[in-house]
Amino acid sequence: VLAEKRIDAFLVTTTSDIRWLTGFSRVFDEERAHLVIVSSDALETGDGLYLHTDMRYSGVMRARPDAGVWTIFDERMGHALYAAETLKGRFVPRMQSTAWQGGEPLRIGIEGDLPLNIWRALHEAFDEQFEGSGLAYELVELENLIVGLRAVKDADEYELLRAAQSVTDAGFTHMLDYLRPGLIEREAAVELEFFMRNNGADGLAFPSILASGPNTANPHAVPGDRMLQTGDFVLLDFGAKVDDYRSDMTRTIVLGSASERQREIYEAVLRAQTEAMASLRPGVAGPEPQALADAIFADRGFGALPHGLGHGVGIDIHESPNLSLKSKDVLVEGHVVTVEPGIYVNGYGGVRIEDYGVVTAEGFEDFTASPHELIEL
Ligand code: GLY
Ligand code: MN
Ligand code: MN
Repeated sequence: VLAEKRIDAFLVTTTSDIRWLTGFSRVFDEERAHLVIVSSDALETGDGLYLHTDMRYSGVMRARPDAGVWTIFDERMGHALYAAETLKGRFVPRMQSTAWQGGEPLRIGIEGDLPLNIWRALHEAFDEQFEGSGLAYELVELENLIVGLRAVKDADEYELLRAAQSVTDAGFTHMLDYLRPGLIEREAAVELEFFMRNNGADGLAFPSILASGPNTANPHAVPGDRMLQTGDFVLLDFGAKVDDYRSDMTRTIVLGSASERQREIYEAVLRAQTEAMASLRPGVAGPEPQALADAIFADRGFGALPHGLGHGVGIDIHESPNLSLKSKDVLVEGHVVTVEPGIYVNGYGGVRIEDYGVVTAEGFEDFTASPHELIEL
């Protein structure tokens, strides 16, 4: 990809992209503490993959069986200076010994969402290092390059995603035994998280949503002090992280017997979810499944889905591709996406049902095993 874009070296600072590039599992945390340099000739030369980190991480990185292809550097210096010195050392001698690309500047790829302070530091370091070298440089924005590559998963990644979902399914089964009127949202959420951590989750995929009663009308409710009551909808939207890969599932249940209105809302959401999942296959445009869900809602007198129908999941909880009405993505085999329609009635409550799985040559393979039918506890 870099050669196609005539990029000589790409600087990567986004931790989840670095996790994907290196394949180093259970090494990274949420900190943006690393810089990767990918030289476009790394495949031919057998070197040219650099990882600047610090001693908090370098020991485990070097111990990995697949560490050999990386030049791992952990001395304390700014990433910008490291990048400038490394690229100067790599490319200036080549420029001097060959007719360097017709006098073109060195084209250094940077991420489109690089923080401004890093961008400034790069300019300062490169100006200083390259001055008088005879080689000019330019920083070229590469928007979403790795995000696009990450969207298509391979078999090893499916395995981790399935493992994360299996902890999630087990968490839901556990909660069906545990949930009852009288619990506080917050304590129920803690129970779910405690269970998952004790049953194979390295961490949570994202802050769990556990909402009850009218709070279920808020799609991203934060578990609070409300007490669960008979007749409530209880919505659980949660996931686990296994070897840095995440799962994402939502189920909504009723405590006690569901009312007619609760059933009507639930059935509409379930129908939209079932049909949207059944519509997934390679070639489907990002907005199509949501349009289908909205048509099912409209048929039954409900308003349109007020948020995106789904999203890619992997190392990040929200990644490419996007399944919303604004999406420009087209599904291909290997895309892992959620399908999560919901109906939210202010002051009353809401229902969301969410699965995730992989787009296959024939359609969609659901990773989620938890039941879809309305559960009355
Ligand atoms: N709660 C995050 C999501 O479902 O997208
Ligand atoms: Mn979710
Ligand atoms: Mn989701």
